[in-house]
Amino acid sequence: MGDLVTMDKIVSLCKRRGFIFPSSEIYGGVGSTYDYGHYGVLLKTNVKNEWWRAMLQDRDDVVALDSAIIQHPHVWEASGHLAGFTDPLVDCRTCKKRFRADHLDQLECGLKPSKHPGEGPDCDLTEARDFNLMFETTVGPVKDAGATVYLRPETAQGIFINFKNVLQFSRRKPPFGIAQIGKSFRNEITPGNFVFRTREFEQMEMEFFVPPDDADRWFAHWLAERERWYVELGIRPDHLRLRAHDADELSHYSSGTSDVEYLFPIGWSELEGIANRGDFDLTRHAEHANEKLEYVDTATRDRYVPHVIEPAAGADRATLAFLVDAYDEEQVEGETRTLLRLHPRLAPVKVAILPLVKKDGQPEVAREVWADLRRRMQAEYDEGGSIGKRYRRQDEIGTPWGVTVDHQTLEDRTVTLRDRDTLEQVRIPIDELGDELERRLRAPWTTPKLAVGA
Ligand code: GAP
Repeated sequence: MGDLVTMDKIVSLCKRRGFIFPSSEIYGGVGSTYDYGHYGVLLKTNVKNEWWRAMLQDRDDVVALDSAIIQHPHVWEASGHLAGFTDPLVDCRTCKKRFRADHLDQLECGLKPSKHPGEGPDCDLTEARDFNLMFETTVGPVKDAGATVYLRPETAQGIFINFKNVLQFSRRKPPFGIAQIGKSFRNEITPGNFVFRTREFEQMEMEFFVPPDDADRWFAHWLAERERWYVELGIRPDHLRLRAHDADELSHYSSGTSDVEYLFPIGWSELEGIANRGDFDLTRHAEHANEKLEYVDTATRDRYVPHVIEPAAGADRATLAFLVDAYDEEQVEGETRTLLRLHPRLAPVKVAILPLVKKDGQPEVAREVWADLRRRMQAEYDEGGSIGKRYRRQDEIGTPWGVTVDHQTLEDRTVTLRDRDTLEQVRIPIDELGDELERRLRAPWTTPKLAVGA
């Protein structure tokens, strides 16, 4: 079990097994947009559900929200996105390619890929200019300035503009949080590395409103909490780290940000940002909307603008990290076994039910077992091809358990239960199968890749 994973292997497995593939492929694709197939949808849904669980079910101080993607254009004026959500861009007059001016040392020249842009003999770069990352569109039939709106570049602002609604209707007082999952859009100049950076992606953001004096304490709380979440879901702790932003990296709204970084095949990169946004957003929206966005304590008449701690994660980027961390290859009886050692709670399919042969009444019993298990968890029935081939397929989609119905099943109503990670097989009565799998699903899990220090 080595750490053999490359981005190419992940991309290829995702395509081969129908997790994620390039969007609009039959038309040649559109740069850096991806579609999720069956197993990709199941996996990303599990990631999002685990996030909701951590925010809503495991604590009682966060409420949910689902705000619109298209918001009043003033939102982006107030938030600073219209003026400042830009990346510096340079064009090459020779190869006609565009590059992020601040990433040139990580990019390839359009003509000589062994060189960085600007380093090739024929490179002719323009001066850097700011390029706003928001996608612009119009509402209504009239295409004038009054009708210009933007696809949201982050879900966070939808939360701030609903602060007053939530405060009124959820009967909350700081400290409390508002959580949201949804699509965001950024016209990234250099997207890439599969779903790591795309122009359309899903964010999982939570804004936690606290009394100003408590902000530092809650910032530390959320750093620890969010790092713990990834570890609990099986990410190897030695592939995860917290990195505090230097002062010159901080966003305009932040007085302190730390990233949870993961050791992707492209190197240590941001998985999630946790920021202390102070009172920036509520104050700006209060000014622009001419509304009071503050908390008033009805008992003491104390009033203040809460400060905000924001853990902001990406559902696609997290899904990619879980895939990368789970990918493994090992030699079994002279053959390479490729598998995803996903946490069982994240695995797209929890159990596969396979008749050993497609005759002698085995498919009928296997379908019976499937009908029972699928009421309790995501289960798949497969009778096509050799048993070895079917297991290889389940290993590659990360199914933690396999149930084989064989000739003995017909005699004593027992089946074999195979473990994806250890390959151990135990015999178990059909009647006990559902409870046993639910017990295993609830049990704490650590990746076997840790045991060998991979
Ligand atoms: N509200 C703060 C905010 O949006 P961010 O660091 O720009 O902060 C938060 O984004 C998270 O969203 C990132 O850590 C990343 O996981 C994800 N994300 C941001 N841009 C992305 C992109 N172009 N493609 C995929 N995920 C992205």
